[in-house]
Amino acid sequence: MANVTINGTSHAIKAAPDTPLLYVLRNELKLNAAKFGCGLGQCGACTVIVDGEAVFSCVTPVELVEGRSVTTLEGLGSRENPGILQQAFIDEQAAQCGYCIPGMMMRAQAMLQRNPRVSDRQIREEMEPHLCRCGTHMRILRAIRRAADRVAGTLVPSAPGGRS
Ligand code: FES
Ligand code: FES
Repeated sequence: MANVTINGTSHAIKAAPDTPLLYVLRNELKLNAAKFGCGLGQCGACTVIVDGEAVFSCVTPVELVEGRSVTTLEGLGSRENPGILQQAFIDEQAAQCGYCIPGMMMRAQAMLQRNPRVSDRQIREEMEPHLCRCGTHMRILRAIRRAADRVAGTLVPSAPGGRS
């Protein structure tokens, strides 16, 4: 039985050790933000953070995260109190169907935790593994830029009457 800390809470996992972390999150713990897309590590929809690194939870057996710290989108904020990235995605209206967004946010979060002073090019390169079938990539990149500037303290306030 694996013991895993998820969003700051320790869980004794009942699933078999080779069960993908994604299934444990969704089926056993009812944390449904991480999505099943390809199941093959090729789309990014299932991305979570493990000890500061973005990982594909669909191809990560739960035994590999024994004793480690997992963060899912639920750990970044709530509907009532969204985190910086979540608010930036709202401000930029970055979601269309929204299916890819939790994974996108988790990779962006891991990047900003390492270094919020990222260039646009670094953001693009970092987000390369993620697919968005709705084609909202430009808005997603703008949202991450906004969050990065906010975290780094360099966000320029918009003019009165403009979008915040
Ligand atoms: Fe995990 Fe696609 S569902 S990478
Ligand atoms: Fe629909 Fe990205 S918003 S897949």
